[in-house]
Amino acid sequence: MKRTSALLASIAESATLAVDAKAKALKAQGEDVIGFGAGEPDFPTPAYVVEAATEACAVPRNHKYTPAAGWPELRQAIAEKTKRDSGVECRDSQVLVTNGGKHAVFTAFAAICDPGDEVIIPAPYWTTYPEAITLAGGVPVEIATDESTDFKVTVADLDKALTKKTKALVFVSPSNPSGAVYTPEEVEAIGRWALDKGVWVITDEIYEHLTYGDAEFASILALVPELADQCIILNGVAKTYSMTGWRVGWMIGPPDVIKACVNYQSHTTSNVCNVAQAAALAAVTGDLSAVAQMREAFDRRGTTMHRMLNEIPGVTAISPQGAFYCYPNMTGLLGKPVGPNGTVSTNTLELAAAILDEAKVAFVPGEAFGTPGYARFSFAMSDKDMEEGLRRIKEWASA
Ligand SMILES: Cc1ncc(COP(=O)(O)O)c(C=O)c1O
Repeated sequence: MKRTSALLASIAESATLAVDAKAKALKAQGEDVIGFGAGEPDFPTPAYVVEAATEACAVPRNHKYTPAAGWPELRQAIAEKTKRDSGVECRDSQVLVTNGGKHAVFTAFAAICDPGDEVIIPAPYWTTYPEAITLAGGVPVEIATDESTDFKVTVADLDKALTKKTKALVFVSPSNPSGAVYTPEEVEAIGRWALDKGVWVITDEIYEHLTYGDAEFASILALVPELADQCIILNGVAKTYSMTGWRVGWMIGPPDVIKACVNYQSHTTSNVCNVAQAAALAAVTGDLSAVAQMREAFDRRGTTMHRMLNEIPGVTAISPQGAFYCYPNMTGLLGKPVGPNGTVSTNTLELAAAILDEAKVAFVPGEAFGTPGYARFSFAMSDKDMEEGLRRIKEWASA
């Protein structure tokens, strides 16, 4: 007899967390491994945020349950921050504080999907979306993209994927894993398409502050405010304030949907940890100087990574416009003997295993993001390790 339900048995481990865990485990065994897997800033959380959390520990109110939807002052601060950064007006009651952005992703699909509802996800996509859609009873419908369009979809692509069952579109700009950033014109065209077709937009704005060069973040709801009744914004403190471990995210949506999500949360997780909410409150009411400093470092590293990836024989990469990932095409290293042992990899899963084994470098293969043949390299790491890791792959591929 099967011991787990069919539903949970169908869910795969998060590939990005798995690669990171494998690299960390090898390191712990004394192996000199360099990991490009983690999608988290390598900086400490800003001191004023940590101080707010430390103080919160001593406040008796924080030792008890607080409202399931989140602290009222935090919901208000998130509404104000969203006006400041996204140009979107919302009421406090339209904000739900969640246990990280990932939890907001799951709650959003649970809120809008009925069995069989189709949700369009442009690929490459963040590995969690299809699993969250499936768990909610929905059906992920992928649209493959490649570097020829900077990994972006057009309205024509969306038209082709549209069926009578289409319920929602997942829209992520800046994107994990491709680093793509849609221009405001492209964002607006997609928003108008969704409005016209009556399709919900689940827009993940977690990388809003991380754009490079001419690229600029534009919120789909700010450009198409008429979408307000069919749009959910997902966001969190993880990437902007280097707070991945604090687990605070949020969703913003129409009042009826948020009310249903608050009910759901009241039965599943109750309030998000009060100490973490105090930290998030300090973060979102503070200024953006910490993220400006991190952005500068990421910008420099992204430029170096882009150059060094293109110096590896068999690898081609477009330059990242946002987030902190390069997403190179690795197909030049497939189907032929490569490396000092002449290893033949038939796909990027095998290639990633070979490079980890033989060059001691970990990265996430494109299979995890719905686009085999590519790989995700995070540049949220020290310049020194990043350069050493890329040098190792070049040496391995040149042997
Ligand atoms: C696109 C995207 N959305 C949401 C998240 C969730 O972040 P967290 O759950 O750490 O807040 C991530 C994390 O990698 C992400 O890349």
